Formats: sequence, structure tokens, C-alpha cells
Amino acid sequence: MLVSLLLLCAPLPLQQEPDLGGAVRQLFADKCVQCHHPDSDSKKAKREFDQAWDLRAVASEWGDNLDPEMALLVEIAEDRSMPPEDSDFLPVTEAEAQLLIDWAMASTPMPADGNPFVDLEMAVRYLPQVESEALAPVEKSLWQRILILLGHIHAPIIHFPVAFLLIASLLRLGFLRTGKEACLQLEVFCLWIGAPTAVLAAGLGWLNAANSGAGGQELFLHRWIGVSVAAISVLLLILHKRMRRKKWYSLLLFALAIAIGGGAHLGGEMVFGEGYMQL
Ligand code: HEC
Repeated sequence: MLVSLLLLCAPLPLQQEPDLGGAVRQLFADKCVQCHHPDSDSKKAKREFDQAWDLRAVASEWGDNLDPEMALLVEIAEDRSMPPEDSDFLPVTEAEAQLLIDWAMASTPMPADGNPFVDLEMAVRYLPQVESEALAPVEKSLWQRILILLGHIHAPIIHFPVAFLLIASLLRLGFLRTGKEACLQLEVFCLWIGAPTAVLAAGLGWLNAANSGAGGQELFLHRWIGVSVAAISVLLLILHKRMRRKKWYSLLLFALAIAIGGGAHLGGEMVFGEGYMQL
């Protein structure tokens, strides 16, 4: 009687969801946290990641809940490249690697008991430090604040080269149509304002990018279009006296206008978001 009751009940616990988080916590305790913590002897491991004592940090650093297949964790599990071959640790077994992959694919659930800490002692030791670093307002030196402010001046200054260099190319259009010398005189006046302010704006823009956290392909294009515009406008200013009647000079001025349009548009998208110019 008793035996049959036990047999009836036994399968029940097996049908519960497996505690992926709990199993991964154990795996990290066995094979990962020894190297990936702030006082680790392995400088490389520490530099790559020093919070393997906290599963939440592991999930956000090595998991990827938007695209789990791309997670670093999945990559190293598939290659079974951790712990490193030349270390004293055995590499993860196939089953352990699969566990890591399953965990990443399941959007890195935390252990069922709610404890995300792989190593409680480390959590006690490092957590106050992590939290105080995160909570402390980052003190910026006066010099840093000046650099940030200068970077912000990119935005107001940029209107000068944009306007004056565009007017210069419009004046060129006027000159080509009417042949009036006055157009060329006004044109060089515009270049005298446009070129130096373009150089200034490019420098300030560089500062701004360094301090604003901007990045990516948009910034890359915006930056190099800006630098090219500054360089070409200086060239046009220098060569104005001798070369202003050459055909290529006109073409370069028009190319400048197009580049300014493109560069400015990219700048707008970085500030206001993509598609801000759509109806
Ligand atoms: C014996 C020390 C050691 C152990 C144990 C260890 N690692 Fe590492 N880990 C390293 C080192 C060293 C690096 C830096 C790799 C390099 O630069 O070649 C690293 C880097 C990594 C990286 C970053 C790899 C990359 O390509 O950027 C991940 C992810 C990682 N480890 C995960 C783990 C996981 C998961 C475990 C446990 C299964 C683990 N590690 C166990 C030493 C270790």
C-alpha cells in the first residue's frame, strides 16, 4: 500500500519546471567564479568580467535576452572554450555547455529560491562596493566640465559654417549665371566666416562625441563628413584668389553644399532620432 502510494507521488516533483537558474548558479560556483571576480589572480579573466559571483550581472553581461543566440555565453558554451584549456579547471562538459545554452535561450531565469548569488561571501564583500560605486555621483573635475561645455557649443557654432558655406555655393551659382564679380567677392567673404567656423565646429564636435556617449555608424559618417567639409572649405578659402575661376573650384563648392546637407541631416538624426524629418 505504502509503496504504491510512493510510486504514485514520485513522478510529481519531476514534472516541475527544471530550475535552470539554480543549476547555472551551481555551475558558476564550480567552474567560473574562481577566475571571474575582482580579486582574481587571472588579470585577463578579471578584465573581461569580474562579477561572476552575481548571476544577475552574468545575465546582463553575457546573456542577451533580445537575441539569445548571439549571447557571449552561448558562443563560449558552443565552443566549450571556458574555463580556458590551459587552466587547472576542466572545461565544461557537453551537458554543462547545453545547460548554459538552455539558460540563455530561456532568457536567463534566476534561481527558483530567489538567490542570485553564486558566492555569498563574495556578494557580501563586493556588493557594498559595487553599489556605492553605482550610487556615488560621478564627480567631474573642472577641466572635464569645461570640455563637456565646449562640446555642447558644437551645436550653436555649427550653424555658422552651414549657413555661410551654403550661401557661398549659392553665390557661385549666381556668378555662373550672371558673371558678376560681386558674387565672387561675397563668396570669399562667406568662406572667410565659413571655413574657420567649420574647423572650430569640427573640433568641438569631436569633443562632444567623446563626452556624449554617441557612437555607431551614424557618428562615424557625421564625423568624417564634418572633418572633410572643414578641410575642403579651408582649401577653397586658400585657393580662392588663384583658382576661383576654375571649373573644379565650382564643382568642389557644390559638392561641399551637398556634403553639408548630408552631414547636418545625420547630426539631426543623432539628436532628434531617426526619421524626425518624415511627414
Ligand atoms: C581558470 C580561470 C577561468 C575560469 C575558471 C573561467 N574563465 Fe572565463 N575567462 C578566463 C580568461 C583568462 C578570460 C579572458 C580570455 C582571453 O582573453 O583569452 C576569460 C573570458 C571569458 C569570457 C569572455 C570571452 C570573450 O570572448 O570575450 C566569458 C564569456 C567567460 N570567460 C565565461 C566563463 C564561464 C561561463 C566560465 C565558467 C564555465 C568561465 N569563464 C570560467 C578565465 C577563466
